[in-house]
Amino acid sequence: MTDPARSTGPGTPAGPGTPAGPVAAWHRLAGDSVLLDGFHALKHALRFGAEVRLALTADRAGALALADELAADVRDTLAALLTEVPHATYAALVPRPHPTAVAALAVRPSRTGNLARLAHAPRTAPVVVLDNPRNLGNAGAVIRLAAGFGATGVVTTGTLDPWHPTVVRGGAGLHFATAVERLTVRELPPGPVFALDPEGEDIRSLKLPDDALLAFGSERSGLSAELRARADHLVALPMRPQVSSYNLATSVAMTLYHWSATGGAPGTS
Ligand SMILES: C[S@@+](CC[C@H](N)C(=O)[O-])C[C@H]1O[C@@H](n2cnc3c(N)ncnc32)[C@H](O)[C@@H]1O
Repeated sequence: MTDPARSTGPGTPAGPGTPAGPVAAWHRLAGDSVLLDGFHALKHALRFGAEVRLALTADRAGALALADELAADVRDTLAALLTEVPHATYAALVPRPHPTAVAALAVRPSRTGNLARLAHAPRTAPVVVLDNPRNLGNAGAVIRLAAGFGATGVVTTGTLDPWHPTVVRGGAGLHFATAVERLTVRELPPGPVFALDPEGEDIRSLKLPDDALLAFGSERSGLSAELRARADHLVALPMRPQVSSYNLATSVAMTLYHWSATGGAPGTS
C-alpha cells in the first residue's frame, strides 16, 4: 500500500523546513476522514479498531513517552504511525491545537455496518437515543459514556452531526467503540423505547432491559412529540422539587449506571 505521507499530490505548499509529504497527504485525506484530535483520541481509536490513515505530531518523543506511560498496548502501532512535523505545521492543520500536539485522520466506519450493529438481535446492551441534541460537547460526553458502559450505540435525531470534529474530540475517540449514527425517529432500530422525562415513572422501580432504546430529549425543549409517540415508557430520574432538570449527559450517565447496576453487564476490565 502507498504511504500517503510519502506520496505527492495537491495540497498546501510546504513552507521552509516543512515536510511536504505529510502536509500534502493531510490535505488530500482530511475531507472524508475523521479527525482524531490529541493523543487520547488516537489511542482510543486504535484500541477499538479504527483504520488510521495518517498520524502527525509536533512532539514524537513526548507522544511515545505518553504511550509508554498510558498505552503500552498501542505503543508499537503509534511508533509506526506517527510522523513528526514542526509545531506551526501541526497547528495549522487542526482547529485548536491539543496539548499533546497529536492529530490523526481515520476512516469513518461504514453506515451500513453501524446500522447492522444497531439492528442486530438479540441486543445485549441498550442503544442511547439523543432526540435533537444541540450541544456538541454533550453529544461527545454521551458517546464516551456509551463506550464506557458497552452500549450498542448512540443514535442522534435532528441536525447535529454526531461525527462533527468537536463531538469526536469530546468523545475522546470512542466513536470507534460503539455504533454512532444519525437517524430519524421513524428509522430507529427495533426495541422498547424508555424515554427519560421528569414526569415519568421513577427509574428506581424499573429494570431497564438490555434491548432498550434509552431516549433523551433536547437540552432546550426536552423530548419531541414524535419521540414521545414512539415511547413505550416514560422514566424519571430522582430529583428534588424545584429543580427543573439535569444536564443531558449527566442524565445519560445516571440511566446507564442504573442499567448496569440492575443487571446490565459492562466489562470491568
Ligand atoms: C436538559 S434536559 C431538558 C430540559 C428541557 N428544558 C425540558 O423542557 O425538558 C435534557 C434531557 O435530559 C433528560 N432529563 C433531565 N432531567 C431528567 C429527570 N429528572 N428525569 C428524567 N429525565 C431527565 C430528559 O430526557 C431531558 O429531555
